Amino acid sequence: MAILKIARMGHPVLKLRAEPVADPKSQEIQGLVRDMVETLQDVGAIGLAAPQVHVSKRVVIFFVPGSRRGGEDDPAEDIPLTILINPEIEPLAEDKTAGVEACLSVPGLAGQVQRFTHIRYWALDLHSRMFEREASGYHARVVQHECDHLDGILYPMRMTDLSSLAFVEELRRFSGNEVEED
Ligand code: NI
Repeated sequence: MAILKIARMGHPVLKLRAEPVADPKSQEIQGLVRDMVETLQDVGAIGLAAPQVHVSKRVVIFFVPGSRRGGEDDPAEDIPLTILINPEIEPLAEDKTAGVEACLSVPGLAGQVQRFTHIRYWALDLHSRMFEREASGYHARVVQHECDHLDGILYPMRMTDLSSLAFVEELRRFSGNEVEED
């Protein structure tokens, strides 16, 4: 078990298209996921993609607390710790929602990003079994943010209005919004 170092914006590993995982049951991937879970829990973030820990593989982990959800199309239920290997996403409708995002690889900042409101996603689990879910609201946002990391995309590259890019500390001071870095 190990707590892994987080790559920050500007590190080339974050710009690569990550490689598909050939065998989710391999020691390498089992160990990587174990360390990613420990790292995620240590930093207290929502999600982590393997390129963020300098491993260019298509692996994402996340946990969505119900307290971060709520509102229309977004039931306030926990989404338990989920491991996605070689994930794929398909939007279920054209509509998008704006919401504040932050990222461990872009420390201290947050900005508004438009994401698909309703998606379907599928991936392999650690037993190499395919599973599929539908997601909406914040759950859908997290999956889109994390899977973007696998294609070398950081959330500022998705922003259409850079005037909303701000330091988390200042947002907390002036907007009262809870902003967590994930
Ligand atoms: Ni991120």
